[in-house]
Amino acid sequence: MPATVVIGAQWGDEGKGKVANLLARDADVVVRYQGGNNAGHTIVIGDEKFALSLVPSGVIYPSVTPVIGNGCVVDPGVLLEEMATLRSRGVDPDHLRLSGNAHLIMPYHRKLDAVKERYLGRNQIGTTRKGIGPAYTDKYSRQGIRVQDLFDPGIFRDKLEDALREKNQILSRVYNTLPMDIEPILDEYAGYAEALAPHVTDASLLVWTAIREGQNVVFEGAQGTLLDVDHGTYPFVTSSNPTSGGALTGTGVGPRDIDAVLGIAKAYITRVGTGPFPTELDDEIGARMVEIGGEFGTVTGRRRRCGWLDMVALRYAVRVGGITELAIMKLDVLSGFPTVRIATAYEDGGERFDDFPRQQRVLYRCTPVYEDHEGWEEDISGARSMDDLPKAARSYLERIEELAGVPVTMVSVGPDREATFLPA
Ligand code: GDP
Ligand code: IMO
Ligand code: MG
Repeated sequence: MPATVVIGAQWGDEGKGKVANLLARDADVVVRYQGGNNAGHTIVIGDEKFALSLVPSGVIYPSVTPVIGNGCVVDPGVLLEEMATLRSRGVDPDHLRLSGNAHLIMPYHRKLDAVKERYLGRNQIGTTRKGIGPAYTDKYSRQGIRVQDLFDPGIFRDKLEDALREKNQILSRVYNTLPMDIEPILDEYAGYAEALAPHVTDASLLVWTAIREGQNVVFEGAQGTLLDVDHGTYPFVTSSNPTSGGALTGTGVGPRDIDAVLGIAKAYITRVGTGPFPTELDDEIGARMVEIGGEFGTVTGRRRRCGWLDMVALRYAVRVGGITELAIMKLDVLSGFPTVRIATAYEDGGERFDDFPRQQRVLYRCTPVYEDHEGWEEDISGARSMDDLPKAARSYLERIEELAGVPVTMVSVGPDREATFLPA
């Protein structure tokens, strides 16, 4: 596994946390490369459940160095709170390392995220309102404040003054809401500087050196391919690159440093927030997936929209992410459906799309072309090898592999870390 990128191959919540945690057992470094606390990664180990938003899933193991890379946006209050929670549960997060080049989420980013969504009304994206979009906007407009600025009080004040001069105009004049005072923010962030100082490092050098030394490095993606700002269902996306390219720019290593890209996909598909969703099931089948799959957001508690597995989208994820192998998660949730369906193409106005359509309007209007597969009745959550699965479940997996064009190298049949196997 030397350097493995774990990416979401759908609209997020595929089970990346579980897989990254599993791989972390044999890893030396686990690094987050994009996103922020919009992510919610759940890890279940026996009776213990951890929901992580910023800290990489490898934190659980003392032998792993968890790293937050430059491509992430970091809300320092949330990060410190998450570290405190971990500490209170017996997990020591002191070995966490944080890139000085990561951008800070500031209080005005959270506020702007909320007021912009309100302003959009029925066209809203349904963001997590954590300030992710506004923080990345400032990064790219070169008005961002970075982690390293925390340690230069003069520069921090200057940058914050500049930012607030503009943000307060926008908050008050465009969004008709209250401006923000500088002093409480300076005080708050000075406290964060002190608490975070021991963790800040040159994360790019750390990851690069680990790879050079032949250590095992896991790049833990957040969100998913269809939420990618370039390759996803724009504008109903997040503001970063969850696809594997993001792992390079978000940490500072090159393409030849990566050995494998593991795409994570559920045996069906879900989405939180607004945006097109060709295989969405607005019926009792979808409701059953929500119920059995526990499909409620880790971050916002919102009910996830559910639908049949979309192989047009999954093939696209394999292509744009350079996915070399797939993990199929939550196969247990499909037990008990008489028929399970796979979308193999879309149809719109007499035209058939085998590849993901380049024109987004097709995604709203198209009808999926389904292939029906026999379901299985058995509870498969105890399966620990392909041989333990009913024949119908095995053929379902084989068909996914065939359509994806890459091997399925991991199957998951329950939330627990142990409810996983590697098909021989
Ligand atoms: P992530 O954001 O990609 O890390 O995924 P989330 O943690 O947000 O969502 C995945 C959810 O499914 C979590 O509640 C996991 O505990 C749970 N989960 C993961 N794998 C399986 C599985 O194979 N079966 C079932 N039933 N639940 C799973
Ligand atoms: P993990 O890592 C699922 C969605 C939001 C919204 C859109 C933009 O747990 O898979 P943002 O706050 O990022 O500006 O919201 O992206 N979204 C996610 N959906 N899983 C996530 O992360 C998500 N992170 C953001 O619901 O539609
Ligand atoms: Mg999640």
